[in-house]
Amino acid sequence: MTFDLHELVNHATGQARSLHQKYMNPVFANVLELIGFAHEYTRGQGCYLTTLDGRKIFDALSGYGVFGMGRNHPTVRHAIAQALEMDLPNLVQMDCFSLSGLLAEKLIALAPGKLEHVFFTNSGTESVEGAIKFARAATGRPTILYSKGAFHGLSTGSLALNGDESFREGFGELLPGCRRVIFDELEQVEQELKTQTVAAVILEPIRGKGVFYPNNASVYPTIQRLCRENETLFIVDEIQSGLGRTGKWWACEHWNLEPDILIAAKALSGGLIPVGAILYTDDIYKKVFSRLDRCVVHSTTFGQNALAMVAGLASLHVLTEERLIERSARQGKRLLEGFQQLQNRHEFIHEVRGKGLMVGMEFGPPKSLRLKPAWALLHAAEHGLFAQAVVMQLYDRHHILTQVAGHHQEVVKLLPPFIITDEEVDRLITAFDAVLDECRKFPGPVWSVGKQLTVAAAKQRFSRKE
Ligand SMILES: Cc1ncc(COP(=O)(O)O)c(C=O)c1O
Repeated sequence: MTFDLHELVNHATGQARSLHQKYMNPVFANVLELIGFAHEYTRGQGCYLTTLDGRKIFDALSGYGVFGMGRNHPTVRHAIAQALEMDLPNLVQMDCFSLSGLLAEKLIALAPGKLEHVFFTNSGTESVEGAIKFARAATGRPTILYSKGAFHGLSTGSLALNGDESFREGFGELLPGCRRVIFDELEQVEQELKTQTVAAVILEPIRGKGVFYPNNASVYPTIQRLCRENETLFIVDEIQSGLGRTGKWWACEHWNLEPDILIAAKALSGGLIPVGAILYTDDIYKKVFSRLDRCVVHSTTFGQNALAMVAGLASLHVLTEERLIERSARQGKRLLEGFQQLQNRHEFIHEVRGKGLMVGMEFGPPKSLRLKPAWALLHAAEHGLFAQAVVMQLYDRHHILTQVAGHHQEVVKLLPPFIITDEEVDRLITAFDAVLDECRKFPGPVWSVGKQLTVAAAKQRFSRKE
């Protein structure tokens, strides 16, 4: 029997949910059902996903920030097809592969500061793991400082740098020596660094969970200076914020930062072949790969696989040729300004913030006496249900896919592809406007969705106690 992908896809169509229920993660499948996201998708192109029942969904989630250039970009697809036709020598291991050398050269040319070497990985979290090892080996120190609310991945090392207890719960003791700080509280950071036991500070320039960054523009440069003064390495995690997401190649450029280690992944894949990269200084390189017998002291089988390198090269080409970084800045400004105007009209909008096309809208309690009890009722059940209800309405009524920006957060996050047009930006703004208009009605559709979530949250708490 021949292998026919078309036939397999046809066969599986309509069965995705039951397959996941049976063989994968039924709890997740149930959550999707609860929030009205239980649709099967048949196609993804540019900014759009098509569902089995023919809906065209605008994707403002972008696979958690993967699809900067949209889905199935023709240039990346073509490059991968070409690579397959060429029978490229893949994963020889005992060689220096030309395409990984080329991709490294291009990344270094784009990098801020004095980064000179690249190590390729298969994912974001794996890049964070590598950065932790490099920092420890280069400094001989154990401690890594990370931020409250940080997210750097979910393998055990990166989980030790996770600022949200709910991710860590149940997984036992993680990597020792990792300490959480509040970056805005510079005195606390300075005290930690002065102990001269800290290998590195790691930060997301814009925190993915909640789209947060310091109000005070001097916080990050000060932390970088304190790191230098105390011989601590400064690691910037650009896995989500990098490669144009915030309107610059790297979000750290907004603060003129020059990290010792910069990590990237997500958009480098072109959305087709997973790839991550650790960019680091020559000084760190010499301390990690310090002798002949340590030349592969850190390595991974699939790190430089040919298709990933091709995807990376093609992605950098598209981002540059189509001027997508500039476009992200321009369209992000339009979106943010539109949201700021909505803030004048809707009392639930507490704040809108972001850079480029990494944008968050945070909700807060209404001022009007009529709506206060509805808000209080929702929050008695769980923080974050209002934002979830907004996300559900955006999807159901306006066919726009977004996400709540983290556990128990009243923040909706948008990460649309950089190819988004003016009309599509305006469509997002109009949809938020319409959903928030509906919130003024009590009872109304948003509140009944909220009630449904409240009941589910209460049931969940009850069953946890049993
Ligand atoms: C800032 C940041 N770091 C690390 C990661 C982990 O990346 P991955 O999911 O590829 O392991 C993510 C993923 O969302 C991220 O946003």
